[in-house]
Amino acid sequence: MLPKVIIYNAVSLDGRITGFNADSELYYELASKLGVDAVLMGSETVLTGFEAQPFQAFQEIGEDFKPREVDPADERPLLVVPDSRGQVRIWRRVLEMPYIRDVLVLCSRSTPQEYLDFLDENCVKYMIIGYQKVDLGFALEELNTQFGVKSVRVDSGGILNGVLLRENLVDEVHVFIHPELVGGTSPSSIYQAPDLESDEDTIPVFLTGLEKLKNDVVLLKYRIFK
Ligand SMILES: NC(=O)c1ccc[n+]([C@@H]2O[C@H](COP(=O)([O-])OP(=O)(O)OC[C@H]3O[C@@H](n4cnc5c(N)ncnc54)[C@H](OP(=O)(O)O)[C@@H]3O)[C@@H](O)[C@H]2O)c1
Repeated sequence: MLPKVIIYNAVSLDGRITGFNADSELYYELASKLGVDAVLMGSETVLTGFEAQPFQAFQEIGEDFKPREVDPADERPLLVVPDSRGQVRIWRRVLEMPYIRDVLVLCSRSTPQEYLDFLDENCVKYMIIGYQKVDLGFALEELNTQFGVKSVRVDSGGILNGVLLRENLVDEVHVFIHPELVGGTSPSSIYQAPDLESDEDTIPVFLTGLEKLKNDVVLLKYRIFK
């Protein structure tokens, strides 16, 4: 069975996801209240968040390194990152984040063996799922079956959101609209995917929540018709 998947983004009034002063405290405060079992984060989002370059490693394995012991009673979410290209090499830094219980990297058959060895050496868990890219539908099912994940918050940019939306894997979309106009021509939407052939292929949604938060931020929650 597929877990419930919630896309969760901060946007400017003109729908951009970068280039404005997002209230990250508010974003994460409300995110923690969702009580999800896993956070699905795009590999580019991980790199941007830690100001790291693709394939850049921050830390070597030191003698003091111990793999994280996972307590089954730990209710913090599992951080799940599709990284079929093996771009993210900063897992020890990621594992220092206090609000995740562990990390699971999603790889595919195209992921270089050298990267899988790197993950093994650093005691980072991974799952190989899909041929070229990660098969996200299958991965979500396996998250449920193997890790008991019933709900997922997607903390990602438009690319991963776009694949999930086009594969009909999303149940809800929550957006925090910030009172700023950014403008620009670079792609910066919560949903990046190839142009549609027809407007009949748009995804209908219905409003389930509307809240005015502090500093004129508005939270809109939509459910997707399935
Ligand atoms: N405002 C907000 O709420 C918010 C939230 C998060 C992030 N961001 C911003 O968004 C930007 C990054 O977003 P992004 O859209 O560039 O990248 P992203 O969504 O973070 O990363 C792309 C992800 O999609 C996966 N992917 C791509 N094609 C796929 C396919 N066909 N099948 C399966 N998986 C696929 C990639 O996996 P592979 O690595 O395997 O290719 C990668 O994990 C950053 O600037 C970040 O700051 C904003």
